[in-house]
Amino acid sequence: MNDTREDLITQTVINRLQTTVDPRLRRISEAVVRHLHALVREVEPTQEEWRQAVDFLTRTGRMCSDTRQEFILLSDTLGISMLVDAVNHRYPLGATETTVLGPFYVEGPQSFDQGADISGGMSGVPMLVRGSVAAADGTPLAGAILDVWHADDQGFYDVQHGVDRRAGRGRLQTDAEGRFACWSVRPVSYPIPHDGPVGRMLEAQGRHPYRPAHVHFMIAAPGFETLVTHLFISGDPYLTSDAVFGVKDSIIVDLIDHPAGAAPDGRELAVPFVELAFDFRLAPVHARA
Ligand SMILES: [Fe+2]
Repeated sequence: MNDTREDLITQTVINRLQTTVDPRLRRISEAVVRHLHALVREVEPTQEEWRQAVDFLTRTGRMCSDTRQEFILLSDTLGISMLVDAVNHRYPLGATETTVLGPFYVEGPQSFDQGADISGGMSGVPMLVRGSVAAADGTPLAGAILDVWHADDQGFYDVQHGVDRRAGRGRLQTDAEGRFACWSVRPVSYPIPHDGPVGRMLEAQGRHPYRPAHVHFMIAAPGFETLVTHLFISGDPYLTSDAVFGVKDSIIVDLIDHPAGAAPDGRELAVPFVELAFDFRLAPVHARA
């Protein structure tokens, strides 16, 4: 049977997919067909609109290079990256909430001692980052590996200033009580790259390309799910309209303002500084709420 009438073509295509050997691939293929056919039935695009859709995806692909991934931006700005993150991290209550990795993580960051300055000469207000890493039940985790990275006071990551530049990122290890601390600079909000098709899309949708100021963390410890998250700085005007939908209330943090003088870790500062403090909780491996 080869019925391609409007009301039967979806089932005809799905029937044709039954030869797919890999069961997971068959399920995904069927769902793609079902949902895309439903989209066409709902929207009833004109032939011209369909041509524009193909052109948009073509331009998105052409924008991609070794240093620019326009399809990830598309996934991010449509909330798909956060939904994929959500279905993969249904952690039990008590574990720190996750968010997207983002495009600026660099594998194998430089290791620093506790209390070191990781800013690498980045400009900005000095910021003490400190806290602890524990299991969801509060048991401190010694020796956890904590990668931290963030933008500068202009809203740029080191790699955006030059592919080999390293600043505002580093790797720390928690001490015997699960604590960590380092110095860097306070990041500000920044726009995602918006000079391509995704930028045009945001414009047409009346949306801005900004992400609220945040610091990224990736925390790994044996026996626990690796935590990929951010800490967002409270009071940022973009907290309720993050272009990539990455904000969760539980990871918004109040920065503590300090005058010049002695810092909590004993360091003497000649200028006022801020403190970002947070206690992370990791979920056990394969934990699902
Ligand atoms: Fe970021």
